[in-house]
Amino acid sequence: MKLSIGVKSLLVQVLTFVVCFSCLVVVNRNFGFAVSPTVFLLICGTLAAGISYLLKCDWWWGVIQFVFPSFVYVAYQQNIPPVIYLIALVICALVFWSTYRTQVPYYPSRASLAAPIAKLLDEFQHPRFIDLGSGLGGLLFRLEKLREDGRYFGIEIAPLPYWYCQCRRFYRQSNVKFLFGSYFSLDLNDFDVVFCYLSPAAMPELWEKASVEMKKGSLLLSYEFIIPDVAPSFVLEIDSDGPSLYGWRI
Ligand SMILES: C[S@@+](CC[C@H](N)C(=O)[O-])C[C@H]1O[C@@H](n2cnc3c(N)ncnc32)[C@H](O)[C@@H]1O
Repeated sequence: MKLSIGVKSLLVQVLTFVVCFSCLVVVNRNFGFAVSPTVFLLICGTLAAGISYLLKCDWWWGVIQFVFPSFVYVAYQQNIPPVIYLIALVICALVFWSTYRTQVPYYPSRASLAAPIAKLLDEFQHPRFIDLGSGLGGLLFRLEKLREDGRYFGIEIAPLPYWYCQCRRFYRQSNVKFLFGSYFSLDLNDFDVVFCYLSPAAMPELWEKASVEMKKGSLLLSYEFIIPDVAPSFVLEIDSDGPSLYGWRI
């Protein structure tokens, strides 16, 4: 069975805690040697980060593994009512719903992305545009304003951003259509322009799907993340200090 990175990381935390705690008890009983909670947590964090490195996880997992035990300890000491943790857990679950599986968390693209994309839409009459993983829908609402004759769609796997988009759409009297679910259930043949802002982990599988389903003459756009071993048809610099937009003409 292949474990997701989130589950693996949690197991590493549990394992390092159990091993470090057991070692500490043995050393304390036999030699009377004790360490402060801070040192204990730093040892746990360092060991967990080391295992994360050996498991070839991305570097930020190492950082998370290192700070996690200390973070839990500090939070525990604040005497925060349990219901606050429960609310935070529910909100996180509704936003980061399937991140452990998709490896694509929510983070918004920059507002400056809309104008260059709207320019690319000039190639199409009444373009049908979709944002795969539309998050809070910001890009789609901006594009709708810039290019009114287009038809805009978003699909989102996480419930809270999807509900939020539906409220925004109602409030703005917008024609953007939001779908709930995974973009793997969609036929990309229906769109002239397919945009995504996902993660390096998602790109190979997305290309497999897009290269089969997207119609001739359509355009695949990815903000920040390239498709490994597939040279883009063009690269646009959006801001001097930000990620680029990559485009593949199908
Ligand atoms: C980095 S955010 C991008 C948000 C938005 N496109 C933007 O430009 O601001 C990626 C979003 O993709 C969603 N996502 C990840 N995998 C998905 C999938 N298989 N199907 C639909 N949405 C997905 C995540 O829940 C997240 O909200």
